[in-house]
Formats: sequence, C-alpha cells, structure tokens
Amino acid sequence: MSRFYVTTPIYYVNDVPHLGTAYTTIAADAVRRYHLLRGDETRMLTGTDEHGQKLEREAVERGVSPAHFVKEMSDRFEAAWPKLEVMADDFVRTTQERHEKRVQELWRRIEAKGDLELGTYEGWYCVGCEEFKTEKDLLPGNLCPLHPQKPVERQSGEAYFFKLSRYGERLLEHYRAHPGFVEPESRRNEVVSFVAGGLKDLSVSRTNFSWGIPVPGNPKHVMYVWFDALANYWSVLQGDAELEKFWTDGAILHLVGKDILRFHTVYWPAFLMSAGLPLPTQVFAHGFLTFNGQKMSKSLRNAVDPIAIARAFGRVAGSDAAGADVLRYQLLRAIAFGQDGDFDLAAMIERYNADLGKNLGNLLARTLGLCTKMTGGKVPPEGERSALEKDLRATIDGLWREAIDAWDRVEPHRALEKTWAIAAAANQYVDRAAPWAEDKKGNRARVDTILHTLLTVLGGLSSLVWPVLPAKSDEMRAQLGLPAIRPEQGTDCLKGIAARRAGEALKAGAPLFPTVDEDGARALLETLTPREAIATSTPTSTPTSTPTSTPTSTSTPITYDQFSTVDLRVGIVRTCERVPKKDKLLRLAVDLGEAEPRTIIAGLALSFQPEQLVGRKVVVVANLAPRDFGKGLVSHGMLLATGPSEALALATIEGDVSPGAKVK
Ligand code: MSP
Repeated sequence: MSRFYVTTPIYYVNDVPHLGTAYTTIAADAVRRYHLLRGDETRMLTGTDEHGQKLEREAVERGVSPAHFVKEMSDRFEAAWPKLEVMADDFVRTTQERHEKRVQELWRRIEAKGDLELGTYEGWYCVGCEEFKTEKDLLPGNLCPLHPQKPVERQSGEAYFFKLSRYGERLLEHYRAHPGFVEPESRRNEVVSFVAGGLKDLSVSRTNFSWGIPVPGNPKHVMYVWFDALANYWSVLQGDAELEKFWTDGAILHLVGKDILRFHTVYWPAFLMSAGLPLPTQVFAHGFLTFNGQKMSKSLRNAVDPIAIARAFGRVAGSDAAGADVLRYQLLRAIAFGQDGDFDLAAMIERYNADLGKNLGNLLARTLGLCTKMTGGKVPPEGERSALEKDLRATIDGLWREAIDAWDRVEPHRALEKTWAIAAAANQYVDRAAPWAEDKKGNRARVDTILHTLLTVLGGLSSLVWPVLPAKSDEMRAQLGLPAIRPEQGTDCLKGIAARRAGEALKAGAPLFPTVDEDGARALLETLTPREAIATSTPTSTPTSTPTSTPTSTSTPITYDQFSTVDLRVGIVRTCERVPKKDKLLRLAVDLGEAEPRTIIAGLALSFQPEQLVGRKVVVVANLAPRDFGKGLVSHGMLLATGPSEALALATIEGDVSPGAKVK
C-alpha cells in the first residue's frame, strides 16, 4: 500500500466553475479513485484562489467587499464538484486562517534562508495572469496574448524579491534526476529550456493594493498572489502527522493546465527548496479544451455549464449522477490527457451511444438476458474452459495490464480505451461462443461456462470503470448481484477478473445507457449549445443590427425577469471599419472583457465615420443570437442607438467602467 495525494489548481473566483475547470477536477478525482481501488491511502484537494488584484478589482466593480464577493463565488465551486461525482477530501480557500498562518510560516522559512530581499520593481503587469510580462511576451499594443482585452499595466514600487536566480542549477539537476517530475515530456522540455535560459529573481510582494496575506514583519506589503496560492497544497496539511503522511512520505501529484506550468514546475519547487521542504513527485500538465471547435472565451466558458450537460444526459441515463458519469467518460476518453482537445456535444452523443450503450451497456444486458433465460437468473458453475475462454482470458489479461499501466502513467484516455477493448472482446466472444446455439443443442455445460465467463468479465469491468463511472459501476454491480465498490485501504480491488460462486442471484434491470435516437440527440444539442457557440445563425430580413427608430408611446409591460434575460453590457470599440460594398454597415471589434473582442456588424455607416467610434463605450446586447449577413459577415451582438439611419445617436456610457460591465 502506498500514499497518494492529488491536487487540482485552486481556481480564481472571478469565474464560475466551467467545463475547463471541471476537466482538471474530474481528472484528479478519477486518478484518485483509481488509487483508492489499488488500496492506497489517498487524499484529494481542490479549492479556490481568492486574493490578488484581479479579484479585488472585480469586487469593487460589483460594488461589494472582496471578502463577500470571494465567499459567494467560492461557495459555487464547493457546491459544483460533488454534482460531478467528485469527492475531494478538503476544499481550501486562500482566505482561510489555517492557510494564511502556514503561508506566513513558509515566508519566514524562506526569509530565514536569506532568499528574500527588499528591492524595487518596474514592469508590465497582466492583471488577468497576475504576472509580470517581458516585452517579448506581449503582442503589439502591449497586449497579453492570454488576456488581450485589457492592455498590460506599467507597475512599479517596492517589493520583496525571491532569489530565484540561485535555484536554476538545482532545478535543472532535479529535472535530470527525476525525469517524471514534469509530464508530459514535451512540457518537461519546455520547462528545462526556460530554466536553462537563466532565471531572474521574482518579486513576491506588493504595496499597491491590500487584498492579500500581509508579509510578516512588514504589513504594508501583501504577498504576491501566486506565492500565496501555490502554498495551498502544503498549507492544508496541518500537524506533523498529516504532513509526514502526505508531504514527506507519500506520492504528490499536482494536476494543472498547461497555462500554469511554469508556476508549478519552476517557482513552486524553488520555494520548497528554499524552505527545506520535499518537492512534489509529479506535475502533470494537461492541454486546453475547445468547445464544439471554438476557443473557450470567458462568455462561452460561462455558457458551457458542465452541470447542465451532466443533468441533460442524466435525463437519458437515469439520474443526475449517471449524467455526471457520461460527462466524465467523454472528457477523459475523447481528449488525450496532456494534449489539447475539443469537447464536441454531437461527438459526445455518438460516443454515448457507441461506447456506453452498444458496447458496455449491451454486454451487460445481453449477458443478463441470457442468464434469465438459460440459468434461472443465477450464476452458473464455471465448468471446463475451452480454447475460446482461454483466448479471451489471455486477451483480457493483456488489456487489463495495459489499462493499469495507463492509469499509473496518468493517461486516463488510454486506460479507458483498454477497458473498453475488454468489453469489445467480451462482446465478440459472445458472438463466437454463441450460447444460444449451445442451448439449442442442449449443451448445458457449455452454456454455463460461457455465461460464467461473461459474468466474471463484467464483474471485473464494473471495478475497472469505477474511477470514471462511479454511479454506473454501482448500477452494474447491483444487476450482477455484487456489492457496490467501497474501496478499503490496503485491499487491491484491481487484481483482474475473479470467478463467481455458482448459485448467486443476478438482478437484471433497466439498460445502463438507453440509446439516444435522432430526435433525442437534436433536443440535447438544442438545449445544450450555448448561443455563444453558434457560429452562424439564420439570416433575418432586417439587414442591419441597429434598430430603426420607432418612437413608441405605449408598449406591452414586461416583468423584471423578462427584462433581465437581455444581457446588456458595456463594450469598448477597439477597431471599426467600413464593410466593402455595404454602404450602411460598419464592422466593429468591441471589447466586452472577454478573451477576444467581438465582431459586431452595425448599420451605423451613414451616421458615423469609423474613426469616430473607436474608444467609445457603447451599450451592447451581448446575448443576442449571432446574425449572419452572408459572405462571412456574422454579427455577435447589437449596439443600442436611436434616430433615423443617417442621423443616429448611439447609446454610450460615461464614467470609469470596465468593458463587460453589466448595464442594469
Ligand atoms: N488560481 C490559479 C491557479 C493557482 S494554483 C496554485 C488559476 N486559476 S484559474 O481559475 O484560472 O484556473 C486555471 C486552470 O483551469 C487551468 O490550469 C486548468 O486546470 C483549468 N482550465 C481553465 N480553462 C481550461 C480549458 N479551456 N481547458 C482545460 N483546462 C482549463 O490559474
């Protein structure tokens, strides 16, 4: 038995839980459940990252205190994960006292080592990344490639510097001595070349805002949010016994997205080296997801609610938990862990029908159906194995080992591929062994051997799928007359397929994954595809997206709820140009605080020169379905204006507001 501690990044609370953050969290849970099955003593941690300039500003913008804002948002994360069948042992919030105290302890240890020094900094800061950028990191116009909607800021002041430059050699030595420290290999190469290129000292405190953990002995400084955040993995282990168990003695796996690789593989190990603490065993960086082929901008991310996806599939698969299983399977099977991948709803439905329904679900249904008919609904005795059974067992043994190896290498997609290959092999075996033909011939012993073999394979599969399909594993096992998997420390539940005792009762039940037919698929796609993800929409007869002025004195009253379905946002016009051959239309790039400015086509050209609009703060209907003007012209929103088309007045906003602010 070994110890295994897995962590997710702690998520910033300026966002809600979305498919991207669900991906890491589900992967961590699945890997953890795999270790539970092995009988390991395990622990899983997730939580929220609540300090820093970004969150302080977001709270101010919403007119609430940072403490109130972060609590409300953190609650949403804590409530979300169990709905996706994630069973973390602990949920850390960086504003908790238990965390703050330990981070200050870490600071003191590093200070005592002589690795912190007061100095001054000046540089380009991206508040979105919470990181200084060098000029070569930036796009023209001082834009961060990850957050181009807000230019980076020139920031300067007094700060403590961590002597990162002292740790380059030691880090390189660590990567050499522990080739598995950074995975996958391509990421390790990236990190090694970054460190080999020379490390600069890192500023780890700020004085220009106060929403952070005070620096011990100099409370005019708060700690840099990444110093505070990275420490969470260690800070939550309270007391010597816990620390020894999971930090000193156990294997520690940090699962992260590739966006935060450097923080976890360079800064964090250097802090730990300085503090004289052991390093994690492995940092595994997975790739980034797109949704239906589109980059997940913030508005799209928010629109793709993983819980809504799980619920919708739950209506087909029998329960919310079953729906979560389907989502877990799709995320971990369709995307090679470590590489970028696309989450596509239509592909999810196809895979649901094929892998879950036709392969695994059908294997269970046909086996139990045959048992009901031929063995009185009981486990038959095994009898003598023929070449068919011996072949099947040899195939399964190989696949089983490959599945286990894949889990050990943190390759869930491969583990699932091998697991489903076992189900496919068993389905082929039924076809070849043809128990119905043996039954007709009155060959009782053969029928028993075949059905016994299938029941043992299904029993094995029900445990091998548990890390990803915990709810459906329970259901499978109930039908197979087996107790639900509740792993016990020290007991390896993954030893392979095990014989069953003859005479045990089976309980054939509803199909595990009822097929989604064409109508069902269409309905699922319609409910789940967010407007932001629709690339084109049906053209309407109005050739302009600005309304023509129709003075109205009366209109039908609507409720506040009806009004609030219209998402009005402040947008800043970043660029504006005429549309060739369309004398009324302008094409605008409007910044709504999303990852990329939106393209909006508006009938403003008779009233404005393009350059008059650049920089204006306009009011945008942000959730209007995209409108296709043909020839690749698609408008993703509408501006508000009044007046005749040659003398329009534009609704604009005064004052210091950020792009994306809600207009209420
Ligand atoms: N607060 C920091 C992490 C501190 S850890 C000490 C942070 N938070 S975050 O909310 O921005 O979350 C980033 C993580 O969310 C990524 O590393 C990844 O795990 C996940 N993802 C966010 N968007 C994603 C995709 N589009 N695709 C896959 N994962 C994504 O950074």
